[in-house]
Amino acid sequence: MAKSTVTSFSFPTRVVFGSGAVSQLPELLAEYGAKRVLLVTDQGLVHAGLVERVLKLVSGSSEVTCFDRVEPNPTESCLEEAVTLLRRESCDLVVGLGGGSVLDTAKAACMRLNHPGPLNQYEIQVEGYRRVTGEVPANIAIPTTAGTGSEVGRSAVITLETDNRKAVLLSPKILPTVALCDPELTLSLPAGLTASTGMDALTHNLEAYLSTEFHPICDAIALGGIRLVGRHLVDAVKGGGIEARSGMMLASSMGAIAFQKDLGVAHALAHPLSTLSGVPHGLANAIVLPHAMLFNKPVSADRLRDVAGALGCAVGGLNELDGADLAIRKVEGLLEQTDLPNRLSAVGVEEDLLPELAAQAIADPNHRTNPRPCTCEDMVRLYRAAL
Ligand SMILES: [Fe+2]
Repeated sequence: MAKSTVTSFSFPTRVVFGSGAVSQLPELLAEYGAKRVLLVTDQGLVHAGLVERVLKLVSGSSEVTCFDRVEPNPTESCLEEAVTLLRRESCDLVVGLGGGSVLDTAKAACMRLNHPGPLNQYEIQVEGYRRVTGEVPANIAIPTTAGTGSEVGRSAVITLETDNRKAVLLSPKILPTVALCDPELTLSLPAGLTASTGMDALTHNLEAYLSTEFHPICDAIALGGIRLVGRHLVDAVKGGGIEARSGMMLASSMGAIAFQKDLGVAHALAHPLSTLSGVPHGLANAIVLPHAMLFNKPVSADRLRDVAGALGCAVGGLNELDGADLAIRKVEGLLEQTDLPNRLSAVGVEEDLLPELAAQAIADPNHRTNPRPCTCEDMVRLYRAAL
């Protein structure tokens, strides 16, 4: 054991996984005694026809109200709209149908129902989980992307409009009651979104594996998740079928389970890129990840060599530093193979924004468990390297 401290492990989310799993929604609603359901989703899924399909599944057994206005990087006012509906319609169960933004909104709405006051008092930095003591309604999370793993995560990220930054709300009580994971729902995801969300899943697994927290069970899950990304990401992006989609959906859930160990500097760099420059979360991670790996190489070369092995590289006989280099090259190669941009300048980030980005990155709690401690100057250097 690396540490002599006592620790506690738990893996509580019930996961219903498999092709066609969404058709089990009526049985799950009956099992949890749902009388009035709030369906939280977004316009993209309304247009794709998926919302109508799920509404039919729900309306057979329960009254249903639909909130379909979740935006990417959901704001506090979007969250409050969902909570108002939840309260007004006296819903007893929430179904989240969508990507990370939707699932986070659904989870935060469940928490918010009986937890009033300023939202920032529930943030991770101020140990907000201690204030989440009231009842939280049941929540069934149905992911339609494979990346955030929000369906099995204890946190929800909501943008505070007052100071234009992302707040991470964290409590075991906002874990969805059931993660209903149906990889068929991701078959029609466009290539770009498949690639960027898939890189988010990789970043979760990789940063969790490198995190300074002691959690050997999550380490094993993280390596398993990385292995699945190495095997399936490119296939999924190139239109691969259900096997590739299943692999990526599992990798996504595994990443979010693994990041009970917390994350690292890539996520600290990625969050301000979304709030200040509008770069989608997965894409922001994808671009900064190789630079974060290089930054961590002096202290985490052994673990980075493991990452290279999990990604399918031949690491036998390689020393740690060479193995770490191989991992970095492999991740750079994944960006290339999935046609993702690899420079921040290509997604509209300009040099004069770097100080502001760095100021937010250093205030972001995610880098606290990065294996190499970061300064604000490090953040500027990392952004510049990725520019
Ligand atoms: Fe992420």
